[in-house]
Amino acid sequence: MTAESIKTIAVIGAGTMGQGIAQLMASAGYTVMLYDVQSDLTRAAIASIRKNLEVSVEKNKITVEKKDEAINRIEAVGDFRMLQVDLAIEAVIEKIDVKQKIFSELEKINGQDCILLSNTSSISITQIASVLKYPGRFAGLHFFNPAPVMKLVEIVKGVATDEATIELLKEFSSRISKSAVIAKDSPGFIVNRVARHFYTESLRIAEDNVTDFPTIDALMKTSGFKMGPFELMDLIGIDINYSVTDAMFHAFHQESKFRPSRLQQQKIEAGYLGRKSGKGFYEY
Ligand SMILES: NC(=O)c1ccc[n+]([C@@H]2O[C@H](COP(=O)([O-])OP(=O)(O)OC[C@H]3O[C@@H](n4cnc5c(N)ncnc54)[C@H](O)[C@@H]3O)[C@@H](O)[C@H]2O)c1
Repeated sequence: MTAESIKTIAVIGAGTMGQGIAQLMASAGYTVMLYDVQSDLTRAAIASIRKNLEVSVEKNKITVEKKDEAINRIEAVGDFRMLQVDLAIEAVIEKIDVKQKIFSELEKINGQDCILLSNTSSISITQIASVLKYPGRFAGLHFFNPAPVMKLVEIVKGVATDEATIELLKEFSSRISKSAVIAKDSPGFIVNRVARHFYTESLRIAEDNVTDFPTIDALMKTSGFKMGPFELMDLIGIDINYSVTDAMFHAFHQESKFRPSRLQQQKIEAGYLGRKSGKGFYEY
């Protein structure tokens, strides 16, 4: 497989990231098959992509034709066996057994050179690959939210990933207009490891009642950050953000600097997951 020969892409998971990745790939000219275990979510995701593209038309960022072409390239797929593609990217819940099962199933319906990618933020690429027959063509391709907007991607090389796969992904990233950085497989890769403290320390400041979270957000924005930590956690999904912290805490042998926050855990227990549930640290 070469980057040039990639034409069809499967996006598995139609949540926050799957939706963004599907929009990005379709806008870059690829035929996209979007699959989610909850098939109604796939249709909702396509409706939401259409809305996003309409906003881009209103802002004169793209033409009506480009919007229509992109939407027409995305197909909602209800049967997993239809996902016969050149490249598949998984963006489902952060659970290793779920991800491993998806890749094992993808191997059964696709040839040996189909590129398999995970968008995981915190699960070991090496470990996901351990169940694969041909792990050389598997890697991490970690997008940031919102995927169509954020320029950076991390290409994550697991122990068994072939160098040729990394070279292909460098070329592919440039074709979808992303700046790629190569990271060795390590908990949190690069960005999430650095950014973890932006969240955990802000949560601790709020828990210690040093000040409230709107003040922390306002302060960080005044200091030059585009979003405050609480606004960003609401955008990412409080559950997703928490699970990344929790995974890193365990991966680094309970190092206290990665300890997850009780305040964040309580939001999840209450079902306040951020923008996607209409309420998180803020109301939407
Ligand atoms: N949210 C972020 O900002 C962000 C950023 C980068 C990477 N990630 C990673 O992307 C992945 C997805 O995160 P998200 O925020 O989009 O989550 P999300 O909760 O918004 O969406 C997950 C989707 O996966 C679907 N799903 C669950 N099991 C499935 C299965 N077996 N087959 C098909 N679909 C299934 C769910 O129905 C849901 O629609 C995670 O691995 C996460 O770590 C998230």
